[in-house]
Amino acid sequence: MTIDEFIAEGQRSIDGTLDRLVPPEAENPATIHKAMRYSLFAGGKRIRPLLALAAANAVADSSPGIEAAACSLELIHTYSLIHDDLPALDNDDLRRGRATNHKVFGDAMAILAGDALLTLAFEVLSKLETGAERRIELVRELAAASGTVGGMIGGQVNDLEGEGKFPTAHLLKSIHRAKTGALLRASVRMGGIYAGADKHQLAALTNFGEHIGLAFQIVDDVLDVEESSEKLGKTAGKDAAQHKITFPAVYGIERSREMAERERMAAHLALKAFDDRAERLRELADRIVHRDA
Ligand code: IPE
Ligand code: IPE
Ligand code: MG
Ligand code: MG
Ligand code: MG
Repeated sequence: MTIDEFIAEGQRSIDGTLDRLVPPEAENPATIHKAMRYSLFAGGKRIRPLLALAAANAVADSSPGIEAAACSLELIHTYSLIHDDLPALDNDDLRRGRATNHKVFGDAMAILAGDALLTLAFEVLSKLETGAERRIELVRELAAASGTVGGMIGGQVNDLEGEGKFPTAHLLKSIHRAKTGALLRASVRMGGIYAGADKHQLAALTNFGEHIGLAFQIVDDVLDVEESSEKLGKTAGKDAAQHKITFPAVYGIERSREMAERERMAAHLALKAFDDRAERLRELADRIVHRDA
């Protein structure tokens, strides 16, 4: 299977699982289910669930039921995007090639749709058919990565409070590690945990996840400068307009690209103890850095 086939097949299976996990549009109260589905099925890259699947592949030949665990990451991620776009945060009107959730459903419903996706993520994990201990580990992993101490919300706070501040290298790294890196790291770790990774495997996966997590946001920042809104499916040039602390703002485009490349190589190095079964992860690291949307 080529990496393109792995991605296409993974996306199909993730989309099918999400469809099964989220209440149908007609379910009462219909507005909230419409709003949740509107953002969820708008064509995201599904990179976090794909990383979870690939990490599990690196550890075990098969991991029955892992799709639901992988989907919990996409539920959290989509909630974070809906809230990130709200007028009180980045105030964006384009996401995944569509009008943002609050533009269509209003601020109140967008806030609730985010809340609902967040809550559903943990309900999904609670129902996994793994042993109780592993289930709790997965819950803890996702909660910590989404949380305030070094997690996604903490990073979003630093990102918002950093607007207009002098962009230092230190502040930059801590924002990016938390707001984006934490969930990507958790994606890889959750795949590993689900598949029964031992201590050494999990340490290597964690190391890999940290490097691709940082690389992912460096590239997101670079694309915000270099690509069009049409290509990205979200408003380009927003970071500079909002005086965000970004890699291009601190280092310029050329050095930012070099730094993403260095993170990619470090990610490869982190997997040196794995055999061919980690090839998908290596290829996803390459995709994360060499993407144009
Ligand atoms: C965008 O994430 C937001 C960040 C955390 C940088 P993605 O680039 O993964 O967005 P989708 O899921 O493909 O829309
Ligand atoms: C968002 O970072 C990170 C989240 C936790 C959602 P950005 O604000 O850079 O994401 P985009 O560029 O709007 O997708
Ligand atoms: Mg933001
Ligand atoms: Mg944003
Ligand atoms: Mg961005």
